[in-house]
Amino acid sequence: MAKVVARREIAPQTVLLELEAPKIAAKRRPGQFVILKKDEAGERIPLTIAMADHARGTITVIFQMVGAGTRGLGAVPVGGEVMDVVGPLGKPTDIHKVGTVVSVGGGIGTAVAYPIAEAMKAMGNRVIGIIGARNKDLLILEDEFRKVADELLVTTDDGSYVRKGFVTDVLKEVIARGAPIAEVLAIGPVPMMKAVCKVTKEAGIKTVVSLNPIMIDGTGMCGGCRVDIGGQTKFACVDGPEFDGHLVNWDVLGTRLSAYKAHEQEACRLHGAEKR
Ligand SMILES: Cc1cc2nc3c(=O)[nH]c(=O)nc-3n(C[C@H](O)[C@H](O)[C@H](O)COP(=O)(O)OP(=O)(O)OC[C@H]3O[C@@H](n4cnc5c(N)ncnc54)[C@H](O)[C@@H]3O)c2cc1C
Ligand code: FES
Repeated sequence: MAKVVARREIAPQTVLLELEAPKIAAKRRPGQFVILKKDEAGERIPLTIAMADHARGTITVIFQMVGAGTRGLGAVPVGGEVMDVVGPLGKPTDIHKVGTVVSVGGGIGTAVAYPIAEAMKAMGNRVIGIIGARNKDLLILEDEFRKVADELLVTTDDGSYVRKGFVTDVLKEVIARGAPIAEVLAIGPVPMMKAVCKVTKEAGIKTVVSLNPIMIDGTGMCGGCRVDIGGQTKFACVDGPEFDGHLVNWDVLGTRLSAYKAHEQEACRLHGAEKR
C-alpha cells in the first residue's frame, strides 16, 4: 500500500500524485518508471517517476487521465491508498557529460523529459529545453523546466502561448544556429518523436527516445511491450524504455499501441466516461 500525500490537477485531465514509497525513492534513477495498481480490480498502469524526494520517502508521478485506469487512479484523494506500486523498473537513462543536450518534451511527455533534463544539467551539460503542448492550458512543468535548463523554448500548436508551432519547428531553428549539439532526448506522442527523429537524422545528431508500448508485467516475461529496434525485437520494460530513436520502427509501435482501442473504449464506457 502506498499513501497519497499530495494530489494536484496541474492541467485539464492531468494529475500529479505524490506517493509514499521510501524504498523506490531511495533507489530510483532518472528514466525509470513504476507500475501502479489502484486496487484489486484496477489495471496495471506504467508511469514514469517524474520526481523523487529521498528525505520525504516519496515519489511523484504525473499523468493524463486518458482511460478507465488512469481516471480511477487520478480519483484517489490525499490520504487515500494505492494498492501496489512496483519499481523502480526499466533501465535508467545514461546520464553522462557530453556538452550540449536538447531535451524535447511534447504534451505529457514533458513529465518524462523533466527528470532526465534535471540529471543532465546536474552532470554539467548545457541543457536546451524545448517543451510544447496543444494549447496553453495543457502545457506542464514550465517553471520546473526553466530552473534546470540553460535555455527554455516554449511552443503551442494553436499559438495560445509564447509561439505557434510544433516542437520540431523550434528544434530546426536551434539546429540551424550551428552550435554543436551532442544529443537530443525526445519524449512525447509517437508522431512527435518520429518527427523529431526525422529532423535529427538529417542533421546527424544522436537521438534518444522513451517508448510507451502497452506494458503488463514490466519484467520482460509477458512480451506485451515488444518493440522493433533496428530489426531486432526488444522489450521496452527491461531493455528500455529508452532507445536510439533512429533505429525505432515507428510503424510497428503505432500499430501495437492501437491494437486494443475497442477494448479501451468499452472499459471507458463501463466506467461512465467518454474516451477522449
Ligand atoms: C514506461 C511507460 C511510462 C509511462 N509514463 C507515463 C507518464 O509519466 N504519464 C502518463 O500520462 N502516461 C505515461 N505512460 C502511459 C500510461 O501508462 C497510459 O496512458 C495508461 O496505461 C493508460 O491506461 P488507461 O486505462 O487510463 O487507458 P486506456 O483506455 O486503457 O488506454 C489509453 C491508451 O494508453 C495506452 N495504454 C493503455 N494501457 C497501457 C499499459 N498497460 N501500458 C502502457 N500503455 C498503455 C495505450 O496507448 C492506449 O491507447 C507511460 C507508459 C509507459 C509504457
Ligand atoms: S511488460 Fe511484459 S515483457 Fe515488458
